[in-house]
Amino acid sequence: MDQFVEDLLAKMTLAEKAGQMTQLTIDTVANGKAYKLDFPLKLNDKKLVEVVQKYAVGSMLNVGPLAHTTSRWREIMAAIDKQANKTRLKIPVLYGIDSIHGASYVMGATLFPQQLGLGATWNRDLAQKMGEVSAYETKAAGMPWAFSPVLDLGRNPLWPRIWETFGEDVYLAGELGSATVRGMQGDNIGHPHKLAACLKHFLGYGVPLSGRDRTPAYIPARQLAEYHVPPFAKALAAGAATIMINSGEINGIPVHSDRSILTDLLRDELGFTGVVVTDWEDIQYLHNRHRVAESQKEAVRMAIEAGVDMSMVPLDFTFTDYLIELVEEGTISEDRLDLSVRRILQLKKDLGLFQGMVEPQEEYPLFGGTEFKESSLEASRQAIVLCKNEKGALPLKKADKVLLCGPTADTLRSLNGGWTYSWQGELTDEQSLPFSTILGALENKLGDRLSYEPAVSFSEEIDIEAAVKAAQNVDVIVTCLGETSYTEFYGNIDNLSLDVAQLDLVKALSKTGKPIVLILLEGRPRLIGEIADLCQAILVGFHPGNEGGEAIAEILTGETCPSGKLPITYPKYPNALSTYDYKHPENLELQGVLGGFKPQFEFGHGLSYTNFAYSKLMLSQNNVHENDTIKVSVEVKNTGKIKAKEVVQLYLSDLYASITPPVKRLKRFEKIELAAGESKVVEFHLTKDDLAFVGRDNRWIVEPGTFKVMIAGLSTEFVLQKTSTMASA
Ligand code: BGC
Repeated sequence: MDQFVEDLLAKMTLAEKAGQMTQLTIDTVANGKAYKLDFPLKLNDKKLVEVVQKYAVGSMLNVGPLAHTTSRWREIMAAIDKQANKTRLKIPVLYGIDSIHGASYVMGATLFPQQLGLGATWNRDLAQKMGEVSAYETKAAGMPWAFSPVLDLGRNPLWPRIWETFGEDVYLAGELGSATVRGMQGDNIGHPHKLAACLKHFLGYGVPLSGRDRTPAYIPARQLAEYHVPPFAKALAAGAATIMINSGEINGIPVHSDRSILTDLLRDELGFTGVVVTDWEDIQYLHNRHRVAESQKEAVRMAIEAGVDMSMVPLDFTFTDYLIELVEEGTISEDRLDLSVRRILQLKKDLGLFQGMVEPQEEYPLFGGTEFKESSLEASRQAIVLCKNEKGALPLKKADKVLLCGPTADTLRSLNGGWTYSWQGELTDEQSLPFSTILGALENKLGDRLSYEPAVSFSEEIDIEAAVKAAQNVDVIVTCLGETSYTEFYGNIDNLSLDVAQLDLVKALSKTGKPIVLILLEGRPRLIGEIADLCQAILVGFHPGNEGGEAIAEILTGETCPSGKLPITYPKYPNALSTYDYKHPENLELQGVLGGFKPQFEFGHGLSYTNFAYSKLMLSQNNVHENDTIKVSVEVKNTGKIKAKEVVQLYLSDLYASITPPVKRLKRFEKIELAAGESKVVEFHLTKDDLAFVGRDNRWIVEPGTFKVMIAGLSTEFVLQKTSTMASA
């Protein structure tokens, strides 16, 4: 921490320190009521004076009912800054915003696929690019802090925030998450085009037992360490400046009150020195939702003692008042507050906020322009997964007459998902006007070979008769199903299956005998077991962003060769929701009883319009010692007729271990592009960290024994020799 920060801290009163640790929503300084602000948003000077001058609030967040233009955002930032400049110490207010798949609260910004879609690209460069563009365009609107990326693992497909994750795998999430952080922050968060990232939601948020948002999770310590910590650790190592806490509870302990996670693990083990912010209202929830604190004041004490630096209160001054009281009565020491305030002031200094909040608009000539559009279109193309393609159903033939139907065919909401212009994304169709839905993009490409049968409803009756009638005159039916946009608990479901009305549409259409191409735009893998066999081709798009309509149309027509791979297991049955890295006894079929691992589509699956042949899987050695680096190489050949991208995936299986080993784990991947007929040798390097797991005493260990390396259909083995420091398997 530097001298500037120490000098400033020394001048601060207790109330000013408590103010710095307070974060309020923009609702508290705008006209109207919380959650029901007047539209268009208008700041209220009297409220601003109270929040910024009287309470010396250190941070603000959020947007109000709808996204703003860059100039409106700049006015908002200037109005807040003006008040901060009138305070005794002129400490700037740090503004944070949910820039989720781009600067999603800035009108005209470039919107990429949601994280699950980015996960499907398996492309670190695209994740980094999303981070860069998101930071650039958020800063163009004057905001220096983005609540992104999400490092939670999506391992319960019912959870309504699956689409906000990079999927179910530890390695994939860590790689793409750290690439996103590098894109957002670069090596200087004070650069005009960079900002502070905020990893969320630490820790174990993605696996609520019920599948419903913010409901209890039960995670063994070993699994927490082996699965949930590493993606965060990698993104922290990439320099993430801030982190947000999981609103849920693990094993009966709300994470906001858990010192072993927020301090022992995050600070002492992982060495994090940045700012820890709570999630929305979560200190209050320790009292009125989780019921571990008997009063609001006790809740504040718990969270501060657990290790929180800043409370996203965010609607009143209770946190600030209780914090002051707790120090005055001697329950919390002022030194404890100093720890947090130092981190907050340092963050503000690193962001350059003391030199003035907002860079001139001229710094951002690329905002919303063609260069960024091209990157987001490329991300959308690579985010779409061709899961099934029988009898060459895709790409469409030049002369094919096509019927397009289904509830996601003509809506930008399903392309973008939540966190798009508003929290729930419900206004996307009005706000994303220059972008094409699937219908718009296909019309451009197919002209009068395309006919369209609208279906406005997702869950109520769809006019099936009209669709069946329209299908009589075409060669191929493209039916677009899935979900509309939702965020957090608004997306809770009781049934993972796709809505009956949508299933019925496909069942009826299949009776026409015409080939069906199914396109799924959805935030999580909704079950399609009843209709998958009725469709010749299946494209899973998740939420591919504003360019998703164009990208899907390009894939349908063959202009783009699909290269996405599933970042999550696509389940087939409601009671078989295992992830790809399940344990051997989960595959009961091997023992001749019901209960095999038979997902609809496996994690890592994704077809192409060409074929790739894998050969010559080789290891540098078969006998390995603990400190060796094992070189793995494989040759990949594009045996088809077109240039295409392929994701080379390396999985490892520890054959016997003192903790039941999973069948396999992803350890490396590389996305490559090969011209027709071209081949390439891809090389990976594994070290002992890749062979380690969390053992019976909850510590990382490496055990000697045989490991199997698998790439595509090939496999080979090596033996890790026992050394004197190792335990036996
Ligand atoms: C969400 C966070 C988000 C925050 C601020 C919360 O409800 O869980 O992901 O960053 O709100 O909008």
